[in-house]
Amino acid sequence: MANGQLDMTTVEAALKDFQDPETGRSALQLDQIRDIQLSGTQLSLTLGLTTWSAPIWQDTETRLKQQLQAMFPQLTDVKVDRVIQDRAPHPLGEIGVRVKSVIAVGSGKGGVGKSTMSASIAVGLKRAGAKVGLMDADVYGPSIPHLFGVSERPQVVDNKIQPVEVEGMPLMSMGFMVPPGEAVVWRGPMLHGAITQFLRDTRWGDLDYLIIDMPPGTGDIALTLSQLLPLTGAVVVCTPQEVALLDAVKAIAMFRKVNITVLGMVENMSGFLCPDCGKRYDIFGRGGARDKAMELEVPFLGEVPINMSIRELGDAGKTTASFDDPALAPVFDAVCHRLVSNLANSAAVAPPLPQLPVL
Ligand SMILES: Nc1ncnc2c1ncn2[C@@H]1O[C@H](COP(=O)(O)OP(=O)(O)OP(=O)(O)O)[C@@H](O)[C@H]1O
Ligand SMILES: [Mg+2]
Repeated sequence: MANGQLDMTTVEAALKDFQDPETGRSALQLDQIRDIQLSGTQLSLTLGLTTWSAPIWQDTETRLKQQLQAMFPQLTDVKVDRVIQDRAPHPLGEIGVRVKSVIAVGSGKGGVGKSTMSASIAVGLKRAGAKVGLMDADVYGPSIPHLFGVSERPQVVDNKIQPVEVEGMPLMSMGFMVPPGEAVVWRGPMLHGAITQFLRDTRWGDLDYLIIDMPPGTGDIALTLSQLLPLTGAVVVCTPQEVALLDAVKAIAMFRKVNITVLGMVENMSGFLCPDCGKRYDIFGRGGARDKAMELEVPFLGEVPINMSIRELGDAGKTTASFDDPALAPVFDAVCHRLVSNLANSAAVAPPLPQLPVL
């Protein structure tokens, strides 16, 4: 490459292959890198990034600066003015939800922390700056409303369901449709119909991510979902003990069978740090999920320790508050960061074809 002479032509040539993290396409050609100004050995430019890539904005900016410094060692200053440059999502699937990435959070086993993890991933992405919706597809035991302390029923406006919002994030749950404490028996076709209606008739708005909290085990909801709209993939939550890992392996096999990409595994309840003595107790063992992920060739997204406030905040309907806890926020942020980095890496390897304008 241009290494050496520093002028507009060589700088533009050096930037040509820098990829927009969301699309994997040339940021320069998409006009997301612009206003390039060179004054002696000082360079400044504007970098426009979409809200989809919010969790990796800093990384992207750093990578751009490093690339320029590596190619032009004589640069004494690289100033990047980062701005949001959004691109609206296209309607997905036959039901036309306007979303860029749909991520299901599942497990093979109940009670391992799927709902906690879906809620935390959603809040983490939202707080980073992305547009996020959260859907509770656990028709048998919906817990998202409880985790966020919401009990109001969604309103219907102009034949569309107005989702309940938490911190500006639309939430929908089968739990909103069923009186608390009542059991629901859903049969296959009814379930399919309910989920379809649920997704299609909700006014989600434009989303970067739709996070779906899956019921434990069975694949029928995953199958229904993947027939309705293209799923970006699934995150599998597990705990470190051997029996739970076997269930996680089954969950991964199940997702693969219905052609849903496994985006990664999260090990939840991974060790307990005693608040009194500071000693770490690996109650369910540790590291099993990381090893299993390697063996199965799925990305490992992180470890979330057993932490009393996760349970307490969840029970109190204050899940968002875990992001105000300096011990917890970095743990969940790391999961969101790895998830989005991996998605961006996939886009970089296989950029989607340019979308045709909607006529
Ligand atoms: N890392 C953690 N530390 C402490 N408690 C946790 C942790 N993760 C989850 N919990 C608690 O464990 C319980 C089960 O979690 P959660 O409801 O998220 O699991 P689930 O997999 O969605 O369960 P189900 O299969 O019933 O849908 C909740 O009380 C939750 O607060
Ligand atoms: Mg759950």
